Amino acid sequence: MRLDQFLSARTMYSRKELRQLLIKGKVKVDGEVVTKGEYKVKPEQNKVCLNGKHVPGDTYLYVLLNKPKGYVSSADEPGQHSVLELVPPELSRKDLRPVGRLDKDSTGMLLLTDDGQLAHQIIAVRSHVAKYYHIKLARPWQDWYAEKAAQGMILRDGAHCQPAMAAKIPGTENEAMICLHEGKYHQVRRMFAAMGNHVAELERVAMGGIEMPVDLKLGSCQILLEKDIQKILKCETDFAKLLQSRQKVSS
Ligand code: URA
Repeated sequence: MRLDQFLSARTMYSRKELRQLLIKGKVKVDGEVVTKGEYKVKPEQNKVCLNGKHVPGDTYLYVLLNKPKGYVSSADEPGQHSVLELVPPELSRKDLRPVGRLDKDSTGMLLLTDDGQLAHQIIAVRSHVAKYYHIKLARPWQDWYAEKAAQGMILRDGAHCQPAMAAKIPGTENEAMICLHEGKYHQVRRMFAAMGNHVAELERVAMGGIEMPVDLKLGSCQILLEKDIQKILKCETDFAKLLQSRQKVSS
């Protein structure tokens, strides 16, 4: 297909902007600058870079965002900043949407994709994709929280939760890790509210078998590969290891 068509379908740049970028030498195909929009590329074979960033040729795009506070997970909430604003134009596509949601005040791993079927698979309760959250509580952790979560809690509005794993992070008073296999609205916050505490901070640190890459800064994105998606769908992260990695060692 034509290079300009390839870029137009996979980025949020207009045709006019793309023409300018091509003329300025900002587009490379397999390491060589290409300035002509009519240049033919094979998306599955050629590596196309725009502004130094790889523009993937696959049919679907999977982007991992380290979500900062203050952004909503929906695409179009009037008066709110959407997580989509954080995706650089090279990675933006018209149908790119967050998979599930993190609250406006939550941080951490948020997957975005234009693969609607995959999004559905990850969100579906029956797919059992595990999501791991590091939380900071307003008041100290109580040991009975773990048992209560493991039994399958009932929230204040009567909603039933599936059994969840929760534990205090060693070396802390009020930090914990919790793993859910479902995603009810504000679920973690509502679980701890039902136990008389309050979640002050919430960060998603892992999904399935993928942990948040340590070098992915708040507000930054990176592309996930098909093999990463399979790890999210088919693997789990070791809960005990996650707890240990977040352990606070007093000096
Ligand atoms: N549970 C919550 O309460 N909030 C989130 O953002 C994610 C899970």
